[in-house]
Amino acid sequence: MGIVARPVHPSFAAEIEGVDLKADHGPQVAAAIEAALDTYAVVALRGQNLDDEQQMAFSEQLGELSRALNHGRQPGQQPRLRAELYDISNLDEDGAVLAEEDRRRTWREADKLWHTDRSFVAADTTYSLLTGRVVPPEGADTEFADMRAAWDALPEDMKRRIDGLQAEHSVWYSRALAAKTDFREDELNTFPPVPQPLVRTHPRTGRKSLVLASHAYRILGWPEDEGKGLLAELTAFATQARFVHAHKWTPGDLVIWDNRTTMHRGTSFDDKRWRRDMRRTTVQGPARHAMAAE
Ligand code: OGA
Ligand code: MN
Repeated sequence: MGIVARPVHPSFAAEIEGVDLKADHGPQVAAAIEAALDTYAVVALRGQNLDDEQQMAFSEQLGELSRALNHGRQPGQQPRLRAELYDISNLDEDGAVLAEEDRRRTWREADKLWHTDRSFVAADTTYSLLTGRVVPPEGADTEFADMRAAWDALPEDMKRRIDGLQAEHSVWYSRALAAKTDFREDELNTFPPVPQPLVRTHPRTGRKSLVLASHAYRILGWPEDEGKGLLAELTAFATQARFVHAHKWTPGDLVIWDNRTTMHRGTSFDDKRWRRDMRRTTVQGPARHAMAAE
């Protein structure tokens, strides 16, 4: 197999070479990549050029595919992609750059806030796999923050203060922060708020991480403003430059991250000028390659 992981940051993030997932997306490759994710939390495989079927086939080795609701559409607008692929593009169903006033634009804006994918649902979202099909020539890096290194670096009294606390997460909170949108009742009903621990231990590595996201808006049992203050303080700490790595996209890249140990955010680009076609598979539950090996 000859898989090699080359670190690109002092505490996390690596580029993986020596594998072609079009040719081999079997359990052994998946196990090797998951082991790299245990160490690096974010891995990039450049120039994979996967199509939808190939991306889904490899992703399924890492867990059950969650399904996108493709929010932000108005009644009558069709999703551009099948439900297993989250649409992270600035494109409409005809593949054209979204109109200035298109509501799907405001939905995308929230991806530019630090977050973990789907922390607003109870199911344990493990990995996200994002492919760059068409990437703009400048801007639109994806930034990652290492939430294990951030936890490790916290002062001991802060660690004691927050370990055991729970925060409530809602997708509507982050959307409202990012852009003014009037959400419909049918949308609001889909995702009620869920509690998440503020600190968690990774089941595979035993390392502790901070659990933060712009979806988090209060600490259970605390006055709302104090909770918001603590979340803002921890987020500012965890996203200092020393904990952050930026992935610069080239066409065909696959980037995989562990949502249990990282936060990420999109960055801006000239999104009225350039097309950006990104597709994300998102997995939950136990990895299948391991089940196959048992
Ligand atoms: C995502 C995401 C940011 C980006 O795919 O989950 O937040 O840079 N993407 O597109
Ligand atoms: Mn995301």
